[in-house]
Amino acid sequence: MSSVWVLMTDTWNTIADWYAELLRTGSAMNEFSRDILLDCLPVELSGRSILDLGCGEGIITRALAARGARVTGIDPSPRMIEHAQAAERNLSTGACYAIDDGCVLATVATDSVDWVTAGLSLNNVPDLDAALTAAQRVLSPGGRLAFTIPHPCFEAPHAAWTDSAQGRPRRVVGDYVSEGFWRSDNPQGVRRAGNQHRQLSTYLNALVAHGFLLEATAEPAAGPQVAAEQPQRAQLPPFLLVLARRRT
Ligand SMILES: C[S@@+](CC[C@H](N)C(=O)[O-])C[C@H]1O[C@@H](n2cnc3c(N)ncnc32)[C@H](O)[C@@H]1O
Repeated sequence: MSSVWVLMTDTWNTIADWYAELLRTGSAMNEFSRDILLDCLPVELSGRSILDLGCGEGIITRALAARGARVTGIDPSPRMIEHAQAAERNLSTGACYAIDDGCVLATVATDSVDWVTAGLSLNNVPDLDAALTAAQRVLSPGGRLAFTIPHPCFEAPHAAWTDSAQGRPRRVVGDYVSEGFWRSDNPQGVRRAGNQHRQLSTYLNALVAHGFLLEATAEPAAGPQVAAEQPQRAQLPPFLLVLARRRT
């Protein structure tokens, strides 16, 4: 079968080599999502312990380590963790990695971290309640959860671009209220591995139900690099950022 076809059996583990190469060669979208997440953490993280949930090949984990944090990245994909560990052998940032499921966090002790970061990963966990229960458990009282997800309003299943009558690109969104697993049919799309669509309210209500205090949200417009590569994205936020605190 041609490699440009989407395999209906693709998973994050089967596309891990492709994803790692995409990020290694420079992905403006991934760097933008990393940077909006990093922007809500202190610049100086010495002495802070951080769990990076769904770390993939470690783009965010490495950046947190570079700020001085004691950081562990976890991901259920063994191949992603191999890539993260290979990068660590080259760069020696101090980041650690483990294979783990964000819905369980079996490798992480209770009340042990100051921050949980989750860059573009909570939209991949099959059970959001389980992931928030696990994040709540490993955070020390007052610790913070910061996560990004593809903006659920504009990146709903099978959303597409079209030209309006004025020739200006417009996002066409349907299927917003139908939550659940879906797979992009774009052979170059990260979401060909499949991911979970949830309404914006589902994320926010789940945080409240799990006792998190919502501290901030952001919907930043695409940065200059993304907008230069994809001008149609200039007026729509590709990602939603959420910052929440565990009650003491
Ligand atoms: C879009 S990648 C993001 C990786 C990285 N955070 C980044 O910004 O490049 C999504 C990641 O979520 C991970 N993932 C999927 N299911 C997960 C789960 N149950 N728990 C934690 N991570 C999961 C995937 O293996 C994948 O590495």
